[in-house]
Amino acid sequence: MHKWLSPLIFFSNNWISRIGVVLVSAAAVFWLFLLPTFIAGHAASAYMGIVLFMVLPTAFFMGLALIPLGIFLNKKRAQAALAESTGPLFTWANPAFRRLVTFTGVVTFVNVLIGANLSYRAVEHMEGVQFCGTTCHTVMIPEYTAYQNSPHSKVECVKCHIGPGANWFVKSKLSGLYQVYAVTVNNFERPVPTPIRNLRPARETCEGCHWPEKYGGDRLRVIPHFDDEGKMTRSVLLMRIGGASATGSGIHSAHVGPGIRIRYAHSDEKRSTIPWVEYQRDGKVNEFLAAKTKKEDVANMSVREMDCVDCHNRPSHTFEAPERGLDNAMARGSVPPDLPEIRKVALEVMKKEYASTEQAVSALPASIASFYKEKHANVYGQRQADVAKAAKGVLAVWQRNVFPEMKVTWGSYPNHLGHNDYPGCFRCHDGEHKTGDGKKAIEQDCNSCHVMLAMEESDPKILKDLGVTH
Ligand code: HEC
Ligand code: HEC
Ligand code: HEC
Ligand code: HEC
Ligand code: HEC
Repeated sequence: MHKWLSPLIFFSNNWISRIGVVLVSAAAVFWLFLLPTFIAGHAASAYMGIVLFMVLPTAFFMGLALIPLGIFLNKKRAQAALAESTGPLFTWANPAFRRLVTFTGVVTFVNVLIGANLSYRAVEHMEGVQFCGTTCHTVMIPEYTAYQNSPHSKVECVKCHIGPGANWFVKSKLSGLYQVYAVTVNNFERPVPTPIRNLRPARETCEGCHWPEKYGGDRLRVIPHFDDEGKMTRSVLLMRIGGASATGSGIHSAHVGPGIRIRYAHSDEKRSTIPWVEYQRDGKVNEFLAAKTKKEDVANMSVREMDCVDCHNRPSHTFEAPERGLDNAMARGSVPPDLPEIRKVALEVMKKEYASTEQAVSALPASIASFYKEKHANVYGQRQADVAKAAKGVLAVWQRNVFPEMKVTWGSYPNHLGHNDYPGCFRCHDGEHKTGDGKKAIEQDCNSCHVMLAMEESDPKILKDLGVTH
């Protein structure tokens, strides 16, 4: 009566079915170990879901398929063994049944030991920056590269992209699954589109580490510039960061201070054109409309509540404009500023289009070297090492910002924190966004956001007074 089941007993006589059992058992054990961390949400890995819902089930069903396959391929032997066996099949007295139970038992026990250990490590690994930054290598490489050069290079990706709590964890899992699918079938946008449409409200993530009382006060910014002769000037700004002061003035107090809510309408996906702004402060509401805009014009536009990333949209993936990247490299000395015409030739070769990173790595330094060989043979003769250093420094700036494989080039990812390289603050603070009666505008007063202590001076007095010597 157990006839249809009986061949199962003899599977342990064939290797294919045994491998099947190992797979089924391993997948089941790993699944059970990983599930609780997934549900609890503290294993904040964007890709745990893939392992749980794609990799492990695949292994499980492959194993399940191998068992009958092995039995089928060894049908003759199993039938012979069956014919030889006497007495009831499913009793401990039957050696074949004993083998089946022992084999399955040992395999499961070993899997539990390995599984407990490995799944713990897998969780740790997938929470890690390495995993997020490098698993889909080409896709994430622009963000990962910029991230490594940012003040957040020690902050895990998931801290900003997912944050605490189970709700967003599950949401990110679901979109993570789709993303893996998209990468697998090579169907994703290049560059990765920005802004991220359903990023978690930043105040729930950023404020886990930064909070208004902590990012207050004023902050000195020294910004280097070089002219075409390689002469350095510096601008010195006192940024009115605000936040903690009793008067409630300053940048943070005005937008994310207590009792404040700002909403705005944007006419493009990039949020670069903002025709309508609503400002609520302690229950009082002001509406500002851009020049030549009527309330009806904005009726169908997307509306967004302003938070940290409407200014800090590049806290971690900060890509530079070519001039700024070069100025910073020259100020650091990684591109020697006193090489004649270095700024001009550097900008020229940096802005050229290259088909791949590989091509740029060989062509870009070579064009700088040949420029000096041809145009400044003297300099090249005497300062070959400096020319090589400059070529390397310029290439480094390029490599931090341009990624042909992902179609990321200068300006692909604008930075809203400022108004010089991109519209940034001036998307609203252009002096033309006015209330209905035209009496009040969103300020463009140069001293409301920063005090200009020096403007492109070669030797700012303020820095001497403060004792800043470098
Ligand atoms: C300090 C917070 C923070 C950290 C840490 C962080 N990101 Fe981001 N990331 C952001 C913000 C903010 C945006 C842009 C959001 C927007 O404009 O909608 C972003 C955007 C992105 C984008 C979309 C493309 C783009 O550049 O706008 C990708 C991809 C990305 N991040 C990957 C990563 C990876 C991989 C890591 C870890 C190596 C990481 N991020 C770490 C805050 C962070
Ligand atoms: C897990 C903690 C953590 C989270 C989450 C986090 N940050 Fe930071 N942030 C840091 C650390 C650490 C630094 C470096 C502090 C330093 O340099 O003194 C930093 C530095 C900064 C700075 C100063 C950069 C500079 O130029 O000195 C800004 C601005 C900033 N973070 C904004 C953000 C924003 C916006 C978010 C949310 C998208 C965010 N941070 C999320 C930990 C965090
Ligand atoms: C209206 C734009 C705007 C908004 C909104 C905004 N910030 Fe800032 N934040 C700035 C500017 C501008 C600076 C100064 C940058 C500089 O030094 O050049 C700054 C500086 C900072 C710093 C560095 C402070 C220091 O002492 O060096 C931190 C940290 C920070 N912001 C966090 C946040 C967080 C968290 C939020 C959201 C709750 C937020 N910001 C919202 C514009 C903004
Ligand atoms: C979405 C539109 C928007 C953007 C973008 C924006 N702001 Fe504002 N900001 C406002 C509004 C609205 C007010 C309040 C205007 C009023 O009531 O006078 C304001 C007020 C301020 C104030 C207070 C001015 C005062 O006189 O009290 C400062 C400082 C400020 N913003 C700095 C910045 C900086 C720096 C940036 C860019 C990093 C920026 N803002 C980007 C909308 C914006
Ligand atoms: C709404 C706030 C705001 C207003 C108004 C504003 N700025 Fe700025 N400004 C900023 C921020 C933010 C930065 C960026 C600092 C940084 O790089 O982190 C900046 C940077 C600068 C820089 C340094 C850029 C560089 O590359 O050297 C200069 C110069 C400057 N502003 C001049 C002005 C002048 C002139 C005005 C008056 C027309 C003005 N700003 C009005 C917010 C403002």
